[in-house]
Amino acid sequence: MKIVHTIKDLQAELTALRAQGETVGLVPTMGALHAGHASLVKRSVSENGVTVVSVFVNPTQFNDKNDLVKYPRTLDADCKLLEACGATYAFAPSVEEMYPEPDTRQFSYAPLDTVMEGAFRPGHFNGVCQIVSKLFEAVKPHRAYFGEKDFQQLAIIREMVRQMQFDLEIVGCPIVREEDGLALSSRNARLSAEERENALKISQTLFKSRTFAATHTVSETLKFVEDAIAAVPGLRLEYFEIVDGNTLQKVDNWNQTSYVVGCITVFCGDVRLIDNIKYKES
Ligand code: PAF
Repeated sequence: MKIVHTIKDLQAELTALRAQGETVGLVPTMGALHAGHASLVKRSVSENGVTVVSVFVNPTQFNDKNDLVKYPRTLDADCKLLEACGATYAFAPSVEEMYPEPDTRQFSYAPLDTVMEGAFRPGHFNGVCQIVSKLFEAVKPHRAYFGEKDFQQLAIIREMVRQMQFDLEIVGCPIVREEDGLALSSRNARLSAEERENALKISQTLFKSRTFAATHTVSETLKFVEDAIAAVPGLRLEYFEIVDGNTLQKVDNWNQTSYVVGCITVFCGDVRLIDNIKYKES
């Protein structure tokens, strides 16, 4: 695996490989890689001749500067994991390389980006679209891989690709969980042992809510989850919404659509964790 730091060097490599008929898969990441990222990389490796993994902590998507400062940066360990997964290139640019001048572009995909994370993290998805569109332009991948844990991000990126007519396929990959159910996240590394115990209640509640939902209404299921999280000292619910998986708008009964997802964000201490569960999938 080669580590490349500039767009120019990466493009020189990729142009030659594309000319030989290789397909290119891109896995955008912010580093601090774990088994969830590894599953995306392995999927790309199995579906493409060349896999580029970008490792870049994108400053424009952090609405909380403290979060940006605290974000783990572990490039050496990341590269070891990527090499083991069979990635072809780790693309680790500097901030100046990706943003030689301030990015003033505005991306707006209302109502997808105004609800849930969009409401609580103003500007976050604009920053995500800025960096992901730059990566698509730099790498020109045939396929790009994103995890379903960031369910809203995936829906917005699909919409950006549709509206901007990027010629590539977006591949959504299932959430990877610890054996006990906790969704893998780079932020889990910041949890103390006690917080880790509390955090486990998030996925446990979501799983239980799926059984509960089979015999209860949407509003009863919302309350079931809200009450279960409120009962755990050390957890603070930011939101739990049951939405149409395509439009991300709230549903008020199970028969309103064929794709229904519950999306949750919970503070565990000062660590903000997200997760989601599918109640119905078309
Ligand atoms: O999901 C992430 O890690 C980031 O939002 C992404 C897609 C790599 C853009 O910085």
